[in-house]
Amino acid sequence: MSGPGRVTLVGGGPGDPALLTVAAVEALRDADVVLYDRLAPHDTLPELAPNALLVDVGKRPGHHPIGQDGIETVMVQHALDGAAVVRLKGGDPYVFGRGSEEVLACHRAGVPVRVIPGVSSSVAVPAAAGIPLTHRNLSHLFTVVSGHAPLSDEEHRHLAGLGGTIVVLMGVGTLPSISHGLLSSGLAADTPVAIIERGYSETQRTTVADLGTILHVAAAAGVRSPAVIVIGHVVAFAFDGDAEASELLARAERLGASA
Ligand SMILES: C[S@@+](CC[C@H](N)C(=O)[O-])C[C@H]1O[C@@H](n2cnc3c(N)ncnc32)[C@H](O)[C@@H]1O
Repeated sequence: MSGPGRVTLVGGGPGDPALLTVAAVEALRDADVVLYDRLAPHDTLPELAPNALLVDVGKRPGHHPIGQDGIETVMVQHALDGAAVVRLKGGDPYVFGRGSEEVLACHRAGVPVRVIPGVSSSVAVPAAAGIPLTHRNLSHLFTVVSGHAPLSDEEHRHLAGLGGTIVVLMGVGTLPSISHGLLSSGLAADTPVAIIERGYSETQRTTVADLGTILHVAAAAGVRSPAVIVIGHVVAFAFDGDAEASELLARAERLGASA
């Protein structure tokens, strides 16, 4: 390892290595060091990055082994030492991924950096459960919000007033405040809600209810993070693998969305 190092921020997708991009696979193959997150596809890293030092910097809710500053310091230092560093992140680096902060850290240190986008869980995990975020006649917009911290009353009002699909990441802990806030802002209690846990894993599970009952249903099911929450009529398309095509067509027809 010699010469000028560099950092490549790589979007690892929602967990299935098959959803890595070709550019991501190439960057991993050429890496000297890989710093990877918990939700990135890490089981196959020894094969994908055979020459790299693999470092788990896995942030989980409430548990950041070296913290964001520590990650940036280690990442930059390896690059200054001449390494081709891959910073492998879950989903897309620029969607609630602090990717832009890591890019700024590279700029500050004078380290060349580039970003390879990834398949974001915000669209891919609903798709894994059969849910499109838009559908003609049903939803022509979607909003992706972070549930990491509770939303303000004003934000709930805006979301409720938009009339499209709402996607919440990191929202399991704040589900009570989100459902209460949207109901108080006038979103109908019978608005469908789906919570998809552990998308693309063998234990993927979809829990479906409506806004008025989701808290009770999620608690009874023991819903846990990581999960993507989808709120809106597109949830009618949710299937768990054994739904009959005829049943899905009937649901679409009832919604006037089958054409
Ligand atoms: C810190 S955010 C990072 C999002 C990521 N940058 C992206 O574009 O998907 C982490 C959240 O993404 C969602 N998430 C990521 N991967 C997931 C998966 N495989 N199944 C369910 N939710 C997932 C969860 O809401 C989780 O709490």
